[in-house]
Amino acid sequence: TKMWKRLNHPQKNDEAVREAAQLLLDQQVVAFPTETVYGLGADATNKKAVQEIFEAKGRPSDNPLIVHVSDRAQVESLAVEIPPVAAELMDAFWPGPLTLIFQSNGSAAENVTAGLSTVAVRMPDHPLALALLEAANTPLAAPSANRSGRPSPTTAAHVYQDLDGRIAGILDGGPTGVGLESTVLDITAEVPVILRPGGVTKEDLETVIPRVEVDPALAGSAEAPKSPGMKYKHYAPEAPLWLVEGDDSFFAETLTACKSRGERVGIIASRELADFLDHDRIIRCGSRRHLSEVAEGLYGALREFKEADVDVILCESFPETGVGAAVMNRLNKAAEKKVKDQ
Ligand code: TXA
Ligand code: MG
Repeated sequence: TKMWKRLNHPQKNDEAVREAAQLLLDQQVVAFPTETVYGLGADATNKKAVQEIFEAKGRPSDNPLIVHVSDRAQVESLAVEIPPVAAELMDAFWPGPLTLIFQSNGSAAENVTAGLSTVAVRMPDHPLALALLEAANTPLAAPSANRSGRPSPTTAAHVYQDLDGRIAGILDGGPTGVGLESTVLDITAEVPVILRPGGVTKEDLETVIPRVEVDPALAGSAEAPKSPGMKYKHYAPEAPLWLVEGDDSFFAETLTACKSRGERVGIIASRELADFLDHDRIIRCGSRRHLSEVAEGLYGALREFKEADVDVILCESFPETGVGAAVMNRLNKAAEKKVKDQ
């Protein structure tokens, strides 16, 4: 796997982007940075190239991919139509971490949409991603560039850990900004529905469109989620993760109970909780008063603790406001169980 190092030299970057684009046109797969997480790209109109993505990731074939574009004409080339609500959302949030679900006109390869009549599209807010899309001059299908089931990669090193030897190359653009995947919004229904919470929050969307619903499956209803990917176990760290719900004293009691059983404990916590606890193996991910910091640090933290070093990971719970909804959605999926204050 070729790694194009992060370069501060614009001409060298151009060269890397050109090489990567050429590999994509040769039906190979290349990882690239976006503002959310690293994506694993392939020509979205080429079934054979897209098949390489599923193989490299070990991804189930019934889980459709997001198509990345660098201009609106590419959206028109993929969708039956662009409803007015979509145009408003694109004006407000593109390029950015918002994926829109359109009726597909069938131009994307059939394995991109996993046989659905709809297609997911977004314009990433990252100069290297946009440069690569322009150089390849084709929409790119790109899921997160991790092995299926693992936390999404927020650095090129994470991609390398998971996919070295399985993909043609990795464009290193340094750490990603948002840290969690894009919001997936279905605009084919009367009222738009959030299928996956992400970087653009429900509150953000409500500043542009009057009504937004959340897929009831995300709140734990018995229905199957409308976004196929949401039904899989995801983001799992190597050691079992317990999500602790309660105040800081309850967290401290839970830690004491684990230690008294002789367990080696790793902790993922805000700076505030970390300062309160007396423990050496703590990964701090930002302040609990700035949930975007927690989002940014979360996947790196989930990759940090190795099975060989800890028996259990205790993780703080966060408020579900703003980007906290996305943080808690991922933590609930990563968690083996919850420990609640009675
Ligand atoms: O931020 C992101 O969205 C990143 C970067 C690389 O762009 N990509 C990403 O892709 O997270 P992936 O494949 O890991 O997640 C795509 C999600 C899955 O939950 C999938 O089921 C859903 O989008 N999805 C894709 N097409 C869909 C469709 N037509 N209808 C409903 N859900 C769809
Ligand atoms: Mg993913």
